[in-house]
Amino acid sequence: MTQSVVDFDIEFRNVVKTFGSVRAVNGISFQIPKGSFYSFLGPSGCGKTSSLRLIGGFEQPDGGEIYIAGESVAQIPSYQRHVNMVFQYYALFPHMNVARNVGYGLRQQRPKLLPDEIDKRVKDALALVRLSGYENRRSWELSGGQQQRVALARALINKPTVLLLDEPLAALDRKLRKDMQIELKTLQREVGITFVFVTHDQEEALSMSDRIAVMRDGKIVQEGSPTELYNHPVDRYVAGFIGQSNFIPGEVVEVGERVTVRTPLGVMLSAPGSKDAKPLVEKAKAVVAVRPERIGLWREGEAGGQSGFKGRVSQVTFLGDQTEYHVETEEVGHLLVKLSSGNAGFGGGDSVVAYWNQTAGLALLDD
Ligand SMILES: Nc1ncnc2c1ncn2[C@@H]1O[C@H](COP(=O)(O)OP(=O)(O)O)[C@@H](O)[C@H]1O
Ligand SMILES: [Mg+2]
Repeated sequence: MTQSVVDFDIEFRNVVKTFGSVRAVNGISFQIPKGSFYSFLGPSGCGKTSSLRLIGGFEQPDGGEIYIAGESVAQIPSYQRHVNMVFQYYALFPHMNVARNVGYGLRQQRPKLLPDEIDKRVKDALALVRLSGYENRRSWELSGGQQQRVALARALINKPTVLLLDEPLAALDRKLRKDMQIELKTLQREVGITFVFVTHDQEEALSMSDRIAVMRDGKIVQEGSPTELYNHPVDRYVAGFIGQSNFIPGEVVEVGERVTVRTPLGVMLSAPGSKDAKPLVEKAKAVVAVRPERIGLWREGEAGGQSGFKGRVSQVTFLGDQTEYHVETEEVGHLLVKLSSGNAGFGGGDSVVAYWNQTAGLALLDD
């Protein structure tokens, strides 16, 4: 009972952390596979940083158990866990050059390492984050992205089993953040150690992670691969957090092979229930969730006998390869539709019919 499966670098069993009356972490359990890129995703205040700090040993749990590499770490202080953390504000030492910043952890080690050994490992760490030749720069001579890479090199140089990253890209501008996302993922593959990444940015989590835990109010709502979360969200919260969705609210009138939902205007919608979703019963408040790219548009009058929802295009946004349409319908309200720009060509004010395949939506509990 004290040992867990060692294919996991980290395991939480029903972990609780309270601050006064706030349950920052409210009984969470998860397993992080060795060598994976694992993300905690959720809005500000949902308990992401607290979870990370519990792994690092900077906080102690009020309940539950934490295992690193199969061993309970209840009695193991932070500095003895093979874990390092990269913070949102990377806090480089301004009076030290890049090489001394990166080598800082190694110089603290006892017994002392030889200076040549330190130099070599600093060089290797800088090569890893593509900053060879920057040894003598000061932090104010570096761009935001370069400072972030120095912080990464500093955290990786001790060869931790697990690297904890708390919104490390949040301070960077959009273009740089995109580049760093790719670099971080590449780096993680190269070094092969487990990355535990915290973000409130779904795009960031989706593009980098092997697995994502979606958090809300100190709990994990759903855990899975990016595609599992995207295609099989367990509820409206996850569907809204992972990617964009249209949500058409109503009441469940029948649960069979598909779920039938009646909107307040009496429109009947049929949609599959989501795999692993919270169960739907008759009379439950539900939404039919439809991704914008699953909706098609016809010009009114060209829909033939096909059924759909009549509406008017209220806004058109060209996004390059895709074009986004806001469509106001009487029957199901506002719809966001994304079409590949080649198939598009609707203008503001156009009368259209919006349609989707009955299997394209998902009936989800609305909570
Ligand atoms: N040291 C602390 N003292 C008091 N409350 C805290 C402390 N750390 C976190 N909290 C509270 O715990 C909750 C979760 O915080 P946090 O883990 O930082 O969330 P996130 O990183 O997802 O934004 C918040 O309500 C926050 O105010
Ligand atoms: Mg935080």
